[in-house]
Amino acid sequence: MAGSHSPDSSRPEPRRVLVTGGAGFIGSAMVRHLLAESRVEVLNFDALTYAANLLSLESVADDPRYRFVRGDVRDVGAVGAAFAEFKPDCVLHLAAESHVDRSLTGPLAFVETNVVGTAVLLQAAREHWGRLPPAQHAACRFVHVSTDEVFGSLGAEGKFRPDTPYEPSSPYSASKAGSDHLVRAWGRSFGLPVVVTNCSNNYGPRQFPEKLVPLMILNGLEDKELPVYGSGGNVRDWLFVDDHARGVWTAARRGRVGATYLFGGGAERDNLSVVREICALLDELRPPGASGPRERLIRFVADRPGHDFRYAIDASATTAELDWRPRESFTSGLRRTVQWYLDHEPWIEAVRTGAYRRWMEENYAWR
Ligand code: NAD
Ligand code: TYD
Repeated sequence: MAGSHSPDSSRPEPRRVLVTGGAGFIGSAMVRHLLAESRVEVLNFDALTYAANLLSLESVADDPRYRFVRGDVRDVGAVGAAFAEFKPDCVLHLAAESHVDRSLTGPLAFVETNVVGTAVLLQAAREHWGRLPPAQHAACRFVHVSTDEVFGSLGAEGKFRPDTPYEPSSPYSASKAGSDHLVRAWGRSFGLPVVVTNCSNNYGPRQFPEKLVPLMILNGLEDKELPVYGSGGNVRDWLFVDDHARGVWTAARRGRVGATYLFGGGAERDNLSVVREICALLDELRPPGASGPRERLIRFVADRPGHDFRYAIDASATTAELDWRPRESFTSGLRRTVQWYLDHEPWIEAVRTGAYRRWMEENYAWR
């Protein structure tokens, strides 16, 4: 089937899905999606770094089809044990260091987790699946969740396509590019049944407030300054997180071995427009009072070094092959997102005070 352009619908459905990074923003959406929309068993394998939040998984914590193991993808023994005990037939690899700004101040963690961690996981999948009878091996999938940032910066025109050359700018995107290459190499050299997905900027409920959208929502709520890098003219293509999770699962079930699928929101916005839209929604849903509209909080600050100007995805090949398209418009998705943060002050408070981290340490200190 590899090399053709029709989805592989003859393949048996995956039954046991290992999700790495399932306590993160997209990973937790992935876990919730799997448990709500399929009958699979899920093992969430996550190191619980600063970006993890088990509160995002409260709704599924007691689901008998869900299990959690605290483990690090760099740890050969822990990854091997997860494969040996859980026996997954599908891996959705989302664990990563994911924030560009952090990669500028501490790049080595990105190489270790994103590059080395991916190699450890690939090798474990190869060893575990290699022991299966060929018929069962063929049913397995290793889906690597990556970013459109591997393609570098676009000018005012054009969009990323699956064959766009790699030209990463930041240590984050370079580490993700490295991991994409490793995944394809394990596919070509060892026959590992890999699929790579590259998606645009995700937004939605439960995102850690270091990324643009939740940072602006939380700062706006607290009447803090809204830092816009450079002139605010950089453009991102915004994808609602649940649309992305549905896309990854579709790629896992129906994607061709060796294929690359691009997911985008079809929702390009410059950063200043995004911040203004957030201000307007906050003003409407939580009127600012005498201090005046929140746009007054916008501050243009020093630009990010190596700041990519524009990202945009041409998802037409993914739509044609997997019948996937985003369901949420940016206008409706952003309103849902702002409303979610307004409705979940305990979540915000726990993140802000570090209470959720202490709770995780106490509950998962042993693994
Ligand atoms: P996130 O930072 O919210 O979560 C990352 C998760 O990975 C956390 O739960 C963390 O504990 C876990 N993790 C980190 N290092 C680990 C390690 N060494 N071992 C095990 N677990 C570890 O990230 P996210 O925004 O949910 O992104 C998920 C994936 O999607 C990443 O691979 C990222 O590169 C990719 N992606 C994200 C976006 C986006 O807009 N957020 C866009 C495109 C691609
Ligand atoms: P971010 O959410 O960090 O995602 P990425 O860098 O992966 O695209 O940033 C999105 C855009 O918003 C990016 O162009 C940088 C910009 N930005 C700001 O202007 N101010 C901020 O405080 C942050 C975090 C980002």
